[in-house]
Amino acid sequence: MTKLKEVFSSNTLIEAVLKYIENQYGLKINELNTDKVFDLIYKNHISDLGFDEEVLEVVDRQISDFLFNNESYFFRYPAQLELILNHCKNNLAPTIVSFGCSNGQEAYSISMYLKESGLNPTIVGVDIDEQAVENAKTGIYSPYSLQKLPEKFAKYFSTLDNKKFILANEIKNNVNFYKLNILKDDIGKILPDQKADIVLMNNILIYMNKKTIDYVIEKIANILKPDGILLTTEEGYSIKTFQNFLKSDKTNNCKFYTKPNLEEIAPMEYRELFEIKIDKENTEFDYESLKIKQEETTIEDAKRYFNKNNFLNAIAISYNILKNDPLNDEALIIISESFYKLGFNSEAKKWLKTYLIINSNKEEKIERYLNLCLKTKDFFEYIRILKKKIALLNKKDDIIRLREILNKVGLNAEELHYNM
Ligand SMILES: C[S@@+](CC[C@H](N)C(=O)[O-])C[C@H]1O[C@@H](n2cnc3c(N)ncnc32)[C@H](O)[C@@H]1O
Repeated sequence: MTKLKEVFSSNTLIEAVLKYIENQYGLKINELNTDKVFDLIYKNHISDLGFDEEVLEVVDRQISDFLFNNESYFFRYPAQLELILNHCKNNLAPTIVSFGCSNGQEAYSISMYLKESGLNPTIVGVDIDEQAVENAKTGIYSPYSLQKLPEKFAKYFSTLDNKKFILANEIKNNVNFYKLNILKDDIGKILPDQKADIVLMNNILIYMNKKTIDYVIEKIANILKPDGILLTTEEGYSIKTFQNFLKSDKTNNCKFYTKPNLEEIAPMEYRELFEIKIDKENTEFDYESLKIKQEETTIEDAKRYFNKNNFLNAIAISYNILKNDPLNDEALIIISESFYKLGFNSEAKKWLKTYLIINSNKEEKIERYLNLCLKTKDFFEYIRILKKKIALLNKKDDIIRLREILNKVGLNAEELHYNM
């Protein structure tokens, strides 16, 4: 009877249940859903069960009804559909996954939309809620779900006696649904080759705590193919959350992240450059102290402050921009240059490295970093990166530069075996 107590090191049953919910479902327990958690506990008479494991079975059975919201309808995000179609220009048989698919409206919208364009995708819908998955498989919907359905897709629905609509088999048969917990289960096993070209995560992260979001996004990065994309309508996540993604973009108010194609952009020698991660804990600057005025939030505002030598404001605005657009080139450069001007040299380099990580191996970008190493007199780092650049691009000028710098710092160039 005491097992739960020990596993969750909790004094009260409620505490144990809350910890279980957090751990198993990654849900953030906040003001908005505390009442629902308490409803779940009291309406199911959980306190009568004591610290017995049966408690967890009840929570698992009831969690969808009490804590998950299944709100969805067809063609909820038309801009995403357009983007998916564009992304499939060179791939007529993409694998697409809708995570948190609810009753299937999102996955079926993609199926209908791509069918009209002659594509032959593999589409998968995943949800933790068994009932939602069953509903999705039946394909029966209330008029609410069809509220935004464009006229031209009405042909795929027939009316049932009970004023509901049933989706045509030709669309239903193109989508498979699975009950999985994205946090705990192997999400690759339901995909051909365990990989996907496109992943949708709409209105699901919003319920999760920060640690879970980072974990889930990393899991998604692992199942995406190189050049694959993650689409999400949700905003406000940090650069660390998306550290496995190459770039973000926003077209038609539709946010997406691309999985880097390291095979193409980064030969072996260069890859080490990509392994640098932002280590906020280990920083020489207090980021919490940054303050910005609400009305000044654009990159133009940041540039204006930078040009007026107000580097702290330039950093604050750029840092804020990165919260919504974690891989914004201009913001990264402004932060780096501002830190350099303020004398925080290692911060300056850290941010410029991020800029390098998320952009392909264009020479000018490496040069920008090398230049900062020179300006900050970090010759060791300069030599390290220059050697990598030589291994990568094998340019005669760079070999000369390497000899010069080695002479300058008193090392013997011959030891490096570079033949000219
Ligand atoms: C609000 S619906 C979103 C439906 C659809 N994506 C949309 O935007 O229209 C969120 C869905 O995520 C599901 N969900 C929540 N946590 C999940 C998890 N850990 N694994 C899989 N699905 C989850 C819920 O059951 C719910 O059906």
